[in-house]
Amino acid sequence: MGLPEVTFAASLREAEVWFGATRALPRTSLDVSPGEVLALMGPSGSGKSTLLGLLAGTVQASSGAVEVLGMDVGSASPAERAEQRRRALGLVFQDGDLLPELNARENVGLLMILDGVRRAQALAEADNALASVGLEGLGRRTPSELSGGERQRVAIARALGRPSARFVIADEPTASLDRQRADEVVETLVASVRRRGATLVMATHDPEVASVCDRTHILDTAVIGQPTA
Ligand SMILES: Nc1ncnc2c1ncn2[C@@H]1O[C@H](COP(=O)(O)OP(=O)(O)O)[C@@H](O)[C@H]1O
Ligand SMILES: [Mg+2]
Repeated sequence: MGLPEVTFAASLREAEVWFGATRALPRTSLDVSPGEVLALMGPSGSGKSTLLGLLAGTVQASSGAVEVLGMDVGSASPAERAEQRRRALGLVFQDGDLLPELNARENVGLLMILDGVRRAQALAEADNALASVGLEGLGRRTPSELSGGERQRVAIARALGRPSARFVIADEPTASLDRQRADEVVETLVASVRRRGATLVMATHDPEVASVCDRTHILDTAVIGQPTA
């Protein structure tokens, strides 16, 4: 017997999230296969970021179950969730969310350094990761010296820079980019994920972005609101 087989990279079973009296995510069931590239669509306020938070382990389900890479997120301790985030998850946000004081290679290498990799080696790996997203030679620029599209590619390199990252969560990564930059960033992200055999769940408003994914899951606000009497 080897390691337990992971049937799904992630699965939600009737997961629902309430923040006080607000239902942030209506009851949702969803399976994501290993290696799948999934788009998550739905109007603003439909719960996309909340669902991604469930997968990242930063939001707790009010009811239902959430499993990610074989871990029952609901019953895992905060330390176990943080460990899974650090080790196996890659996160990409709307604005790249880079540390402004650090240059590109330091932003990408930081997680590896925190993971105990020697600084020189982490920065060398960061250079490789930056090259793989088309940013060769730009590693010494700080975020303010890069364009929005380049910053997003740094964020992708950071998410996929660690060899152990196999589940990438992206929250509207192209929302602040023009059409051409958006297409380039998504192409880079999806290609990096596929090359790695990783899994991607990506929230987006953009049908063109969704069209390069294997499948689209749509969240609908129509059912959001106070329960009717
Ligand atoms: N921490 C929170 N506290 C209260 N309400 C929240 C919180 N996070 C999200 N919401 C609400 O939950 C709903 C879904 O939000 P969100 O998941 O951010 O939607 P989306 O990402 O699809 O725009 C919205 O009505 C939002 O205002
Ligand atoms: Mg959102």
